[in-house]
Amino acid sequence: MKGLLYTTGSILFMVLVTHCVSNKGKEDVPVIIGSCDTVSVSYTVDIVPILNANCTGCHSTAGATGGVVLDTYQGVKNQVDAGSLVDVLTGANGASVMPPSGSLSPDAIRKITCWVENGALNN
Ligand code: HEC
Repeated sequence: MKGLLYTTGSILFMVLVTHCVSNKGKEDVPVIIGSCDTVSVSYTVDIVPILNANCTGCHSTAGATGGVVLDTYQGVKNQVDAGSLVDVLTGANGASVMPPSGSLSPDAIRKITCWVENGALNN
């Protein structure tokens, strides 16, 4: 009887461990289409136009809704470091989806996510 309990316990434990390991790191990146490795994303060329078209109307130096500034590199970097920039794209971790009118296109989300994954460079 004891042996059976141990066996069942071990199997359950192993299933749990395998499950956790196989899901490790996946929760943080809900929407990635394709890999970032081959994509070179530039802050100036790719990210700034997306932010200017969709975000800076509410988040600029002149009018920083929620204290969020997205018209300077440092302001954007602050949100990257806080983890908020990527979260608001998909509403991950309880964040409000931005822009409030509806999320960005998958392509724009992929660009921003890859830019952050590549170190959020001022390039
Ligand atoms: C129509 C106005 C508006 C637009 C456009 C907008 N936001 Fe926001 N944003 C808000 C408001 C209001 C809040 C604060 C209240 C909230 O969290 O819902 C906020 C909060 C945030 C936060 C802070 C969230 C947190 O949890 O700390 C971030 C980051 C953010 N927005 C990023 C963006 C990005 C990126 C875009 C463009 C893709 C964008 N916002 C577009 C109004 C806007």
